[in-house]
Amino acid sequence: MTSKKSRKKPSPKKPPREKTVVKRGSRPASAVRIIRTIDNMRALVREVRLRKRSIALVPTMGFLHEGHLSLIREARRRAKLVVVSIFVNPTQFLPGEDLDRYPRDLPGDRRKVAAAGGDVIFMPEAAEMYPEGFQTFVDVTHVTRDLCGAARPGHFRGVATVVTKLFNIVQPDVALFGEKDYQQLQCVRRLAQDLNLPVQIVGLPTVRETDGLAMSSRNVYLSPEERGQALAISRGLQKARRLFSAGERDSSELTAAVLDILRNQSGLEVEYVTVCHPETLERLPAIDREAVILVAARVGKTRLIDNARLKGTGRR
Ligand code: PAJ
Repeated sequence: MTSKKSRKKPSPKKPPREKTVVKRGSRPASAVRIIRTIDNMRALVREVRLRKRSIALVPTMGFLHEGHLSLIREARRRAKLVVVSIFVNPTQFLPGEDLDRYPRDLPGDRRKVAAAGGDVIFMPEAAEMYPEGFQTFVDVTHVTRDLCGAARPGHFRGVATVVTKLFNIVQPDVALFGEKDYQQLQCVRRLAQDLNLPVQIVGLPTVRETDGLAMSSRNVYLSPEERGQALAISRGLQKARRLFSAGERDSSELTAAVLDILRNQSGLEVEYVTVCHPETLERLPAIDREAVILVAARVGKTRLIDNARLKGTGRR
């Protein structure tokens, strides 16, 4: 005999969906779902798309700091589902670079993503992103040729390839990148445009420590002494901005002023100081309207980059 209870009709309602679109607020790390396979990421994307919800992607290599979190917070404002990818992408590291010792901290990252309002961490394995036989790369030719592209041949090919793959997997409406990696941002803008990818690329300003040092996951490599030496970079860029505001438009004067500061800093070795067009990154001998001044330098074994936008109505 069946009991009254068991005769009850099953509820016509569908079982509740897994709650993946979460409201912002102070949330525990466990509120952030971790997805480790491309199939599972695609399944979530299908579900979210079916509900006509928008998706934002913040690509990272993890060991998150305030610079990353500013991107996540802005992503939260722009989309219903915020995906943060954490993938230390082997194809963008040159032999001898820091691939094997790149800092990692998943529990810390998960807490930070939760606090900044992210919903999902996507962290695929390198073996799944680059299975045996992988041989297709994205090459953004011009904008990646000089500056870091010259110093790190193949680096931007790796970046462009992994970013394209992440776009294809996550299918974001919007993807957010930092101006800190200025050449990378222009490379990504170019590839999205050239390949007609249906994603809006948003660039956000560099987040700095209170003393001016641009935040970077690689700053942990610096000893206290090196960290002090590294400050010459932001000091140099500040100087360039001041000169620009005072009306200086000759690029060689601006670079000379920055080089003067950098070369007088012990422990620091300059790689480049260049004034470029803000989109094409072609060198500008004189600044007509807007420009960006980019710096790369080594402090000890650590390579650091930084830049400053030169724009506005300075006296002429
Ligand atoms: P990663 O160095 O982890 O940086 C992830 C994103 O954070 C990039 O868009 C970067 O420009 C931004 N970012 C880093 N430091 C910042 C700062 N101080 N202020 C604002 N934004 C900052 O860049 C990469 O990873 C990788 O190359 C990646 C794009 C993920 C491809 O592998």
